Amino acid sequence: MIRGKIVGIGAYAPKRILTNHDLERMVATSDEWIVQRSGIRQRHVIEEGETTSDLAVRAAQQALERANLTPDDVDFIVVGTTTADMQFPSTANFVQGKLGCRRIGSVDVWAACTGSIYGLAVGSQFVQTGKYRRVLVIGAEALSRITDWTDRSTCVLLADAAGAVVLEACEDGRGVIDADLYSDARHWELLYMPGGGAQYPASHETVDQRMHFAKMRGNELFKVAVRMFVECASTLLERHGLKVSDIDLFVPHQANLRIIEAAAKRLDMPMDRVFVNVDRYGNTGAASVYVALEEAVAAGRVRAGDLILLAAFGGGVTWGAALLRW
Ligand code: ACO
Repeated sequence: MIRGKIVGIGAYAPKRILTNHDLERMVATSDEWIVQRSGIRQRHVIEEGETTSDLAVRAAQQALERANLTPDDVDFIVVGTTTADMQFPSTANFVQGKLGCRRIGSVDVWAACTGSIYGLAVGSQFVQTGKYRRVLVIGAEALSRITDWTDRSTCVLLADAAGAVVLEACEDGRGVIDADLYSDARHWELLYMPGGGAQYPASHETVDQRMHFAKMRGNELFKVAVRMFVECASTLLERHGLKVSDIDLFVPHQANLRIIEAAAKRLDMPMDRVFVNVDRYGNTGAASVYVALEEAVAAGRVRAGDLILLAAFGGGVTWGAALLRW
């Protein structure tokens, strides 16, 4: 059976770091509140003039280098993002050009923070069917660009980064085994950005009403997130006849340490098998799972043959999980 194996992984975070103490000077918050409620201590924020596709390209270049491949070797590009460079063309389209790839297909996947898992599912399907040999899957965000820096309930959480993996067709049992994707629009008002689309096109009014910023009902989203994490991970494991104890490493979306701990507890997954780096990156949306997986690999937490569980949730609400053999 053909699977998409990760033959290279890369990550990139902008140089500029914003600490909780920096935020204390911007909104009515405290380092203590942010650490206690979210586990976040600092986050990276994009520079002026930089954009989502720039971060994506840096992560992709690292992934390709590590795979000993060049942009010419890529057959298709998928970018998961909530903060596309423009309404159109797609960010993936810009990545194709900036990386210097051939005239290959490229597409953005819009599933908020679950864009990481959605992107991986889309990319690995193309490999599994034999359509493409190598697919570049990227999660990239400049969430600071849709952050209301006067809203303390969101500005302490959202951040910028990119992560990328090169999936290559292989038949040695390694690679993406399966991925489950979900959405439930009954909860769309828990996290959304109303302005700039077809419903509320940009106008003086949308700007005055701060409609071009992310709006969130954090406390409600928190509860939904924990439930969805647990549900989708359990369903995926069950279908493959696996137990939580079979998983060598769980790499969840890094939104909030308390969400991760609550989900791990309900899954009966010990925290020493859960990778966490939300403290240093904040919530980087569709990039977070890849940024965390890259760090886990670099830290020697992943060995060939390990069984890895990825899971994410985000606005929509959307959620999903993926299982892969490293
Ligand atoms: N500093 C200080 N106080 C704050 C801050 C802040 N930054 N933000 C909110 N508060 C206040 C609130 O106003 C509230 O005050 P009140 O009791 O006087 O009304 C109090 O703190 C408690 O607020 P809650 O929202 O109940 O706090 P909670 O414990 O739920 O933590 C948090 C808030 C961190 C947002 C949490 O709910 C969370 O992480 N939710 C999930 C968010 C998330 O993951 N979003 C991303 C989804 S992924 C994607 O698609 C981008």
